[in-house]
Amino acid sequence: MRNRLILGAMGGMLRPSIRLTYRHLGAAMTCVGVIDARAVAAADNDELINILGRREVTTEEERPVSVQLIGGDIKELAVAAGRIQRFASVIDLNCSSPIQRLIDQGYGASSLLRDPAFIREMVRAVVETTRIPVTVKIRIGIEGPDVDVVRIAQNCQEAGAAAITVHARFVRQMYCGPPHWDAIKLVKENVDLPVIGNGAVHSAFDAQAMLERTGCDFVMIGTAAFINPLIFLQTNELLETGHCRTISSAQALVRFFREYSIVARKLESRGPVSFLRRSCKNFLKVRSFMQRIQRGEVTLE
Ligand SMILES: Cc1cc2nc3c(=O)[nH]c(=O)nc-3n(C[C@H](O)[C@H](O)[C@H](O)COP(=O)(O)O)c2cc1C
Repeated sequence: MRNRLILGAMGGMLRPSIRLTYRHLGAAMTCVGVIDARAVAAADNDELINILGRREVTTEEERPVSVQLIGGDIKELAVAAGRIQRFASVIDLNCSSPIQRLIDQGYGASSLLRDPAFIREMVRAVVETTRIPVTVKIRIGIEGPDVDVVRIAQNCQEAGAAAITVHARFVRQMYCGPPHWDAIKLVKENVDLPVIGNGAVHSAFDAQAMLERTGCDFVMIGTAAFINPLIFLQTNELLETGHCRTISSAQALVRFFREYSIVARKLESRGPVSFLRRSCKNFLKVRSFMQRIQRGEVTLE
């Protein structure tokens, strides 16, 4: 890891060329959105390539990149992790999803977080079948502070996890609303693992504050990456020099699109000019969607 900043997974929103652009603009690692372990475990080789293709896993240049699995069956998770590890630098186990469809299948955050012993066995099985680091992403409660985050984190450590990401919100908050960074601090104080803090880092100053207030080792940035696509560069500058230049939204977007056009020209096979025009437009659409998510105007059911 060349710095302390990670681009969070945002399923369906981050093509490889966009993720790689963020790497060029200061993210030390990127994350591919969640993949259902059952589908990976059951797929034949062609289907597997299809599943990964749909999820747009990933180019060599993007590494280190984390690929995320979700599931409620330990055997399936282990098999799936074994099969996808060659596409990843890290396997991340998602215990943080608030999406109703996954909750209905028994492996949304609310089922998994209630069962720290299950999380320990799941991590242990996946660690045993993979040769790359295994991390876990959790939330800090369901309706409120109603799960034992410290026990969960300690179980992950016991089972051999390489790091834990703490999204400092409750499941009912989805992706917006006030974060509870104290829970990140609590986890950090009770495990020896690297802790990745996540939740409402909207500026370089927020990232600095999270590192200072919680003692976490890395900061994961989600929605804000679309709103200020230079947030990684600015945060690195702030952490390295103590200062960070103010950049207008327009300047930030121009800089991002300039970098993106260089990356996309290399990675995307489609006609570069029309592709770029379309995908810059698409980026702006996703950006305003993320602004609405941050304001609590849309939920993702
Ligand atoms: C549209 C969208 C899709 C997401 N998909 C995933 C996902 O597949 N896996 C995951 O762990 N987190 C996912 N997240 C959560 C983010 O990675 C992050 O934890 C969350 O947005 C909180 O960070 P933030 O406050 O910096 O936005 C998603 C978030 C959004 C808004």
